[in-house]
Amino acid sequence: MARPTLFLSAALALVCSAGTVLAQSPANAPVDAQLVAKGAYLARAGDCVACHTAPQGQPFAGGLAISTPIGAVYSTNITPDKTAGIGDWSYEDFARLMRTGVTKAGYTVYPAMPYPSFSRLGDDDLHALYAYFMHGVPPAPTPNKKADIPWPLSMRFPLALWRMAFAPAPLPTSVPAEAQPTLLRGAYLVQGLGHCGACHTARGVAFQEKALTASDSAVYLAGGAAIDGWPVPSLRNTHGGGLALWSKEDIVEFLQTGRNPRSASFGGMNDVVAHSTQYLSETDLGSIALFLKSLPDGTSVPPPFVPDPKVGQDLHAGVVNGRGAQVYLDRCAGCHRSDGQGNGKAFPALAGNAVLQTSDPTSGIKIVLSGSAVPSTMKAPSALTMAPYAGLLNDADIAEVVSFIQTSWGNRSGTATASQVAKLRQSSPAVQPMTAAAFAAGRVVPSPLVTQAGTSAAQGKP
Ligand code: HEC
Ligand code: HEC
Ligand code: HEC
Repeated sequence: MARPTLFLSAALALVCSAGTVLAQSPANAPVDAQLVAKGAYLARAGDCVACHTAPQGQPFAGGLAISTPIGAVYSTNITPDKTAGIGDWSYEDFARLMRTGVTKAGYTVYPAMPYPSFSRLGDDDLHALYAYFMHGVPPAPTPNKKADIPWPLSMRFPLALWRMAFAPAPLPTSVPAEAQPTLLRGAYLVQGLGHCGACHTARGVAFQEKALTASDSAVYLAGGAAIDGWPVPSLRNTHGGGLALWSKEDIVEFLQTGRNPRSASFGGMNDVVAHSTQYLSETDLGSIALFLKSLPDGTSVPPPFVPDPKVGQDLHAGVVNGRGAQVYLDRCAGCHRSDGQGNGKAFPALAGNAVLQTSDPTSGIKIVLSGSAVPSTMKAPSALTMAPYAGLLNDADIAEVVSFIQTSWGNRSGTATASQVAKLRQSSPAVQPMTAAAFAAGRVVPSPLVTQAGTSAAQGKP
């Protein structure tokens, strides 16, 4: 019995002597705690948890349904469970999946898994991610679900052809974090782990992102298809719906807190802020901002926003021109003010708001119907809420007020019709405030600013 004891004490000595050693890996190699921590950070930058966790499920145990044009695909268990998860995957298996979408079993995954973006990751970052998934995540026995895709579309071999056509193999090289924000690190985060283009770039007929990087073409991040009915705006440095009016600081603040004086996060972006970007370092967010501000106009060059003070002055003086203005004054101006400037970070400005500069009124209509809540974050825990108006205003009034905000104060977008509102009414259930309870961190913060439309804040003098 001497040998195992000797072995144990030697191992213990190893664990105790090295400051960074956490536990024993399966191969009895010491685990580098710093590497695991780096992997945890990168997993947040890649928002793995958002897709790989079912509602109320254990983190990373998979089972979330992700809709694709041919049916629902379920995310998989990526915990280190040996049978249900990826516990028996080697580093090489993991790296191959992340770079090429090919699993340990040899088939290609659906591109609902953003491996065409992750393929940019260099070996050091992939090693850190692997260390985290092997040693920083508790194993879960949850079995994987089969996709709801009917045969013959369910056959996986076309996915390999898809990969050859649409997922080029870039030369993977990590761009490590620097002391100061850099364009290179920003490009690496946005085009790689952040996979921002998965939502913000338009997709082609085969579900492929039309561009995977800024150097591919100007459709990169120029706005994507709607996610759960919410249009996804352009992140390029352009007018007419892009980020031209945003400073780098505005972008950092938005990604950190879900809000800034120009806008507030809603729809699918709430999850991105809540699970991913709020955890990134100020320097990394600065790098992301540098990169986004470097993306020029695309094929069209929309005219810049020019503020028009007339509407605000009229409303303030009680001059109301039309039904839309009246509804706005009665229902909205309490928070968003008669000049459309909102109220700091509490209530977003509507004048110049990028969401209100395109011909598509969908976001405006959906927000008024369903209400909205800014995500609760570490730096800004209050889940500021706008109550739903579906039960308070009819289709015609909602169309009028949305047309009003889309065309006032200098905003130059399209008007809305009552039939558009009627259509969207079905698919716009009232939004539940995103309190901290909704998140794994589970910090419930009662928000003093959560108000019902028509009460306190809304009744303040505009
Ligand atoms: C946008 C959603 C999404 C994100 C973000 C995402 N994944 Fe996935 N991932 C999926 C889906 C869906 C599948 C399963 C696809 C299939 O079955 O064809 C998958 C499959 C995988 C697999 C294969 C597992 C198996 O058992 O075959 C691994 C490993 C994986 N993802 C790791 C990651 C890591 C690590 C991250 C974060 C860096 C991540 N994923 C982020 C959607 C996502
Ligand atoms: C109680 C205060 C309040 C009232 C009243 C109110 N809103 Fe809002 N509104 C908010 C808050 C808070 C947000 C941010 C919610 C989010 O982004 O998730 C918001 C967001 C919006 C947005 C999206 C802008 C963005 O960048 O997030 C639009 C458009 C909007 N409101 C229009 C209206 C209209 C039209 C009315 C009247 C019918 C109205 N609001 C009434 C508080 C209010
Ligand atoms: C799951 C889909 C999804 C992903 C991934 C995603 N976004 Fe978004 N994003 C949205 C949606 C939907 C909106 C529109 C709602 C809003 O403005 O908050 C949005 C809005 C934004 C806005 C506000 C733009 C405006 O005009 O108001 C910024 C900035 C942004 N995203 C940055 C990013 C960055 C940076 C990434 C990558 C790290 C990213 N997004 C990844 C869905 C996504």
